[in-house]
Amino acid sequence: MKKIAVFTSGGDSPGMNACVRAVVRTAIFKGLEVYGIYRGYEGMIDGEIKRLQSHSVSNIVQRGGTVLKSARSMEFKTPEGRKKAYDNLTAHGIEGLVAIGGDGTFTGAKLFFEEYGIPTVGCPGTIDNDLYGTDYTIGFDTAVNTALEAIDKIRDTAAAHDRIFFIEVMGRDAGFIAVESGIGGGAEFVMVPETHTDLNDIVKSLKNLRKSKSSSIIVVAEGDDAGNAQTIMEKVKTKLNDPSKDFKVTTLGHIQRGGNPTARDRVLASRCGMSAVEGLLAGKQFHMAGVVNQEVVFTPFADCIGKTKPLIEDHLKLMKILSI
Ligand code: F6P
Repeated sequence: MKKIAVFTSGGDSPGMNACVRAVVRTAIFKGLEVYGIYRGYEGMIDGEIKRLQSHSVSNIVQRGGTVLKSARSMEFKTPEGRKKAYDNLTAHGIEGLVAIGGDGTFTGAKLFFEEYGIPTVGCPGTIDNDLYGTDYTIGFDTAVNTALEAIDKIRDTAAAHDRIFFIEVMGRDAGFIAVESGIGGGAEFVMVPETHTDLNDIVKSLKNLRKSKSSSIIVVAEGDDAGNAQTIMEKVKTKLNDPSKDFKVTTLGHIQRGGNPTARDRVLASRCGMSAVEGLLAGKQFHMAGVVNQEVVFTPFADCIGKTKPLIEDHLKLMKILSI
C-alpha cells in the first residue's frame, strides 16, 4: 500500500483534527502518500481530494471542528454515488482509507468495502460515545465537560430563584452525555433513551424532595422516550400541579459539538489515528481502531454498528444514590 486517504464524516466532534493530524503524520512516517478527502462521502463523490503534507496539519491539534469539513451524504447511499466515489479514488491511486466518524460513517464504509474492496479502517469520532468497540469516542469527553460547565452555571441561577430546570443535552439514541454530565453536575434526575422514563416517578420524587432542596436539575437526553425537555417539562408541570414551583428549560444544542478538545480527547484521537494507519498496513480491511481497557482494539464495522454499547450500570446506580 503506497497511497491512502483520510476523511471525516457525519456530526463533527472535538478531536477530529487531532485524529487527522495523527493519520497524516503516521502515514508520512511510514513512507506513504496521504490525501485528504473534503466533506466526507460528498467530497469523495465530487472529487474533492488533495495531497496532504506534514505541514498541512500544523496548528490544528487544539482546534474543534474538522479542517477536512464534514457532511451527511444522501448520494453515497445510492449505488451511483458510490460508483462515482470509487472512480475518484482509483483516479488518484488511493488503495486504503481512514474514516473518522460514527455509526453512519461506518455503515457507509462497510458497504463500500463489500462493493469495491478498498480497505478501510475507522476511528470513532462522535460526541455520543455510542460505538461498540471503544470505551470512549473522540469528542465525548469534551462534550461532557461543555455540558457540565453549562449545568454548573444553570445551577447557580436555579438555586438563586428556587427553580426546577430541565436541561436537554445531545444524544439521539444514547444517554452517555446525559449520565456523565448529570453525575458530574449533581443532577437530581437523568432521563435517557436506554431506559423507560415514567414521568410519575419524577413527579413523585419532586413532591418528596427534602425541604432544604428548593431547586432541582433534571438532565434530559434529546432522544428520551418521554419526549424532549420542553415536552417533558410541560407534562411534569401539569401532573405536579403546584403553582409554587417555577419551571425552566434550557437546550444546550450544538455548543456541545464545538470547542477545543480536552487532553483526553486529543490523546485518544492521536492514538486511534496512528493505529488506523498501522492497521491498514497490517492488513485490516473493515475495522474500527478503538481503545478498550487502555489497549488498542480493532473491531469489525459490523459489530461497531450492530452491537449496542450499554450505559455503565454503576453510573445509573450512582444517579439514584446521589440524588437523595
Ligand atoms: O451524532 C452526534 C449528534 O451531535 C447527536 O448527538 C445529535 O442528535 C446529532 O448529531 C445532531 O445532528 P445535526 O448536527 O446533523 O443536526
